[in-house]
Amino acid sequence: MKKLLDIISEVFADTFASCGYDKKYGKVTISNRPDLCEFQCNGAMAAAKEYKKAPFLIADEIVAKLTEDAACDMFEKVEMVKPGFINLSLSQHYLASYVNEMSQDETLGFTPSGEPKKIVIDYGGPNVAKPLHVGHLRSAVIGESLKRIHRFAGDTVIGDVHLGDWGLQMGLIIEELHCQKPDLVYFDESYTGEYPSEAPFTISELEQIYPAASAKSKEDPEFKEKAHTATLKLQEGYAPYRALWQHILNVSVTDLKKNYEKLNVSFDVWKGESDADPYIPDMIQMFVDSGVAHESQGALVIDVEEETDTKTIPPCIVRKSDGAALYATSDLATIIQREQDYKPDEIIYVADNRQEMHFNQVFRVAKKTNLCPNTKLTFQGFGTMNGKDGKPFKTRDGGVMRLETLIQSIHDAVYARIMENRTVSEEEARTVAEIVGLSALKYGDLSNQASKDYIFDIDRFASFEGNTGPYILYTLVRIKSILEKYTASHGEATFSHTVNTKQTATEKTLMIELTKFNATIQAAYDELAPHKICAYIYDLSNAFNKFYHENNILGESDPEKQQGFIALLQITKNVLETSIDLLGFSAPDRM
Ligand code: ARG
Repeated sequence: MKKLLDIISEVFADTFASCGYDKKYGKVTISNRPDLCEFQCNGAMAAAKEYKKAPFLIADEIVAKLTEDAACDMFEKVEMVKPGFINLSLSQHYLASYVNEMSQDETLGFTPSGEPKKIVIDYGGPNVAKPLHVGHLRSAVIGESLKRIHRFAGDTVIGDVHLGDWGLQMGLIIEELHCQKPDLVYFDESYTGEYPSEAPFTISELEQIYPAASAKSKEDPEFKEKAHTATLKLQEGYAPYRALWQHILNVSVTDLKKNYEKLNVSFDVWKGESDADPYIPDMIQMFVDSGVAHESQGALVIDVEEETDTKTIPPCIVRKSDGAALYATSDLATIIQREQDYKPDEIIYVADNRQEMHFNQVFRVAKKTNLCPNTKLTFQGFGTMNGKDGKPFKTRDGGVMRLETLIQSIHDAVYARIMENRTVSEEEARTVAEIVGLSALKYGDLSNQASKDYIFDIDRFASFEGNTGPYILYTLVRIKSILEKYTASHGEATFSHTVNTKQTATEKTLMIELTKFNATIQAAYDELAPHKICAYIYDLSNAFNKFYHENNILGESDPEKQQGFIALLQITKNVLETSIDLLGFSAPDRM
């Protein structure tokens, strides 16, 4: 469906044109004085300069023309306000027909503006064998939402978790295992049999091994050297280490999947840095042969600075002096892999802002070396999640908080709130706390512009009032409960009603909020901005709750008017449900 503002603007543009003015002055916006009108056009003010005429004279002409034209059916009120503004309110009839059409539409009136694209979204980015910590939360939550928004807009999306499964950390783990369990067959060079299919460690053991190894490597250079060697051997394909690595990967991925599931986050492919490895030798050769790469202090580098740069972008190192590949090498080779496997129109990387320079270098090398001439490369950075002290979120003793612990604490906070109200059993409260807790967590994150830092405030996020996930769900649950009661007394079959063509003030405001759905989704899509959906559903929920407080929905005695209310509840429910699904959470039936 066309966006309401575009429809109104077109009517205005035509009117400006038929009065002899440039069409461009017909732009209509949402009123910044909702107490006076719903929409406004300030075009006469701007046109006054070009046509050297008092703005109110122009505005008067436009208003007169609109009033005599049939288009005026659209408006309840069109008036000139000095010095030359045009204030307008939509006709109730027109508004109702727009909302009814929306409710018939599968995508609730949203029609994507461009051709469908094929997109890879690289998000999550966990590192194998390391527990997920809060730093991984944002990538997962934002990436998941972007994936859903793009799919809703008709794009084909491949969500790739892009595991960190290949670097030094693997050698560290192997070497630490060597110390802890020297008798394993993987360390017996004379062993020629098959390797066991069972992993020689559990996930909890694995999670202890990595920190131990990492700490040891900082104090013990000999250990570090051994870990290096183990990494190299693994990367060269040494069979016992490959087998061990596969175990590490399997155990870790099983655990990661479980955790992501709790976050309602899922990936289409579970590729990682290791999958890029086979593409590296040819790629490096191509960099050398084409002359873009040159040696610098033994390393192979590619200059990426551009004339228009305002700050220095250092050369991108693609091979270290010891021959090892780096993070950038791996990301470049991954581009080749994705080109071969998917030929995407765009790759979106959702990663910490602190990786901006890295991606900037990678994108420039890709451009310079023509790795993906038809693919747009986009970095969507995100800011840090801080504690109330404004510093990166930590556990009480200053350590990195595990994601599981964080999720548990939000469940507990929500559970306490639900038990305060005591409308459900203890058991139901637990289940509901998980659903609502997820909304608290995700909305708390997504309602901020992704690139900004934000303060993780569990009490605020878990509150049932204010701009929070639970407030949105509370609104939805309220709607569901009214609809349920209505169905109980009137039966399901009555659910084909249309919204009222004569509306109360709060009813009309709610309808106007609903019409903004398509423009909101378009903006969230174009700007990779889930926070726009959050802001929208907050406004929508507020509009609904005002409507709810000022109209007696279930007690309405005029059956037709009541049916109109019910239709309005239905579409509001659909819009809210669709929106929260795009954010990656859902609503319980009760709370
Ligand atoms: N594993 C990386 C980290 O923990 C994030 C990966 C982001 N994606 C990428 N293609 N580099 O920092």
